[in-house]
Amino acid sequence: MNQAPKRYTITAALPYTNGPVHIGHLAGVYVPADIYARYQRLQNRDVAFVCGSDEHGVPITLKAKKEGITPQEVVDKYHAIIKKSFEDFGISFDNYSRTSAKIHHETASDFFKKLYDEGKFIEEVTQQLYDEEAHQFLADRFVIGTCPKCGNEESYGDQCERCGTSHNATDLINPKSAITGSKPILKETKHWFLPLDQYESWLKSWILDGHKDDWKSNVYGQCKSWIDDGLRPRAVTRDLDWGIPVPVKGAEGKVLYVWFDAPIGYISATKEWAQRVGKDWEPYWKDKNTKLLHFIGKDNIVFHCIIFPSMLKAEGSYILPDNVPANEFLNLEGNKISTSKNWAVWLHEYLEEFPKQQDVLRYVLTANAPETKDNDFTWSDFQARNNNELVAIFGNFINRVAVLSQKYYDGQVPQPGPFSEIDLKILEELKTFPNNIAHSIEKYRFREAQAELMNVARLGNKYLADEEPWKTIKTDTERTQTVMYIAAQIAAALAILSEPFLPHTSKKLKELLQFDMLKTVPSWNSIQKNFELLPPQHHIGQGELLFGKIEDAQIQQQLDKLEASKKQNEAMNTPIAHQKETITYEDFSKLDLRVGTIVAAEKMPKANKLLVLKVDTGLDVRTIVSGIAESFSPEDIIGKKVTVLINLAPRALRGVESEGMILMTENAEGKLVFVNPDASGAENGAVIS
Ligand code: 2FM
Ligand code: ZN
Repeated sequence: MNQAPKRYTITAALPYTNGPVHIGHLAGVYVPADIYARYQRLQNRDVAFVCGSDEHGVPITLKAKKEGITPQEVVDKYHAIIKKSFEDFGISFDNYSRTSAKIHHETASDFFKKLYDEGKFIEEVTQQLYDEEAHQFLADRFVIGTCPKCGNEESYGDQCERCGTSHNATDLINPKSAITGSKPILKETKHWFLPLDQYESWLKSWILDGHKDDWKSNVYGQCKSWIDDGLRPRAVTRDLDWGIPVPVKGAEGKVLYVWFDAPIGYISATKEWAQRVGKDWEPYWKDKNTKLLHFIGKDNIVFHCIIFPSMLKAEGSYILPDNVPANEFLNLEGNKISTSKNWAVWLHEYLEEFPKQQDVLRYVLTANAPETKDNDFTWSDFQARNNNELVAIFGNFINRVAVLSQKYYDGQVPQPGPFSEIDLKILEELKTFPNNIAHSIEKYRFREAQAELMNVARLGNKYLADEEPWKTIKTDTERTQTVMYIAAQIAAALAILSEPFLPHTSKKLKELLQFDMLKTVPSWNSIQKNFELLPPQHHIGQGELLFGKIEDAQIQQQLDKLEASKKQNEAMNTPIAHQKETITYEDFSKLDLRVGTIVAAEKMPKANKLLVLKVDTGLDVRTIVSGIAESFSPEDIIGKKVTVLINLAPRALRGVESEGMILMTENAEGKLVFVNPDASGAENGAVIS
């Protein structure tokens, strides 16, 4: 883009709604996107910052199956949690939408229909993987197998998480169903494909020639490797029952591929926002003077740099992203963040445990942002950065300014005397920060930008330490006035410049400095023009401390939480059994389950595994032979309350007739345990239903 953009459309990857948001998402996508959007708004630029919940796709269906609820219930639950946590954290979306919204279904449907009507798809009957037990086609994350590129045995059907390759499910070696674990067969089905091969030469010139210098090297490198490998047509429909129905005849039972519909979600979210605020959405997506930016994590690069732009190009009336500033991954205490292993710091939990400390997390995640390589979040670093940087540098400077101004001048900014050479140097230096910080933000170097912000506070601290107003107050009151006047200007600059990074702190600081009492409210650009942001006689209030110390006990609590996750993971290393085929209520009601008590137990002669039990079922005392002898000795279990299936057909085991079955399970350590109704206090014979 050669001329200055007229407006900015800033998108942040739509989070999958199968779990809450964690610090990896924040560091990779939402915090940098928010810094960028807030900064552009401070420059009075026209910004649409959009996001929303990605509510389709296989992970959500799998989660619903696992929890025994509907996909809609899954997305409703997590959409609410995610939306609220973003709000509480201060991610300043203009709109946070969701892909189950009507406006999105319509937008995505229309988009597909237009491409379909214009013959932009290839329609093809191909062989796809099919699970005969689950009676369904297996696409994307419904299949697990060996990645043909790197050999990862746990690759998903659409993408390998180890090497990042995006592939078709049929490319996997030794595929198995994620639903039943069975080996899928190949079965014919019709789908629509976007012929990416036809966009190859255009992508080459647009990305490889056009964005060599301005896209991040990790993004450019990934694009180059895909394009160099050769692009193939990519199916944009799926045989699933959760998603946006394919809007053409002959496609009944099929839905749009989630990666076809999700990025269109950015457009729907913009439309929804524009309707709400009475604007026209189209310039935000169609005007050449709009700068479109996609903030994403590195696993999303192919979709945002190759597939979505090809869709936009095929449609014809849209602009393309100016940049796709993708980040690498954030690890946690040396290990990969994992939702399924609960190895994460969840945003909604953080907000409960550290209320009012949103900016501490924002600060640490930016200071450690995985901008050029994977990075690690540790709780000790979190504590150190808070205590040694936010408290000791930023907070300390502001506190000194506020306390000394109150003490010497009842909170008034004093009239300065003549400026010394040092003063002039400080004021000159202060003027350079807005530009430096802006330059780093414009280049998506947020760590560098935030470090520069901290240098403003460092400058203030050093100035006070060198000029020692607490000493000159006894010897040279005019000098003290000058120093405190300049310190107040530095504090005001901090209030403005910190807004993109630490919005809650900036707000508190503006309140402390009583910005609302100023005739001219200073802005980012006014720092560069005129150093006097707070005039003499302006009143500074008496605020609370900006940052509080984080104690060892708080950090230990977090480490204990992670340790508990680790223990649980080790214990649960055995895979969870897949859900069996659905049964009707009638099927279930045939089982007669009762509370019972083991009243006698003895070893079955010449059998290692069997115990012969006498169980009081409330109706009778009967014999049950149970294969638990390796886990329990008879004397341990006499008197145990158990769950008994009493109407199981009797059968003889080693000549002893067994008249029922005791329900057992394995605990987290893999030890056999009784499904035990003791806690309920139920009596023998009580019906379990
Ligand atoms: O990786 C993810 O979490 C996806 N849900 C991101 C989607 S981004 C976009 F295209 F909507
Ligand atoms: Zn791989």
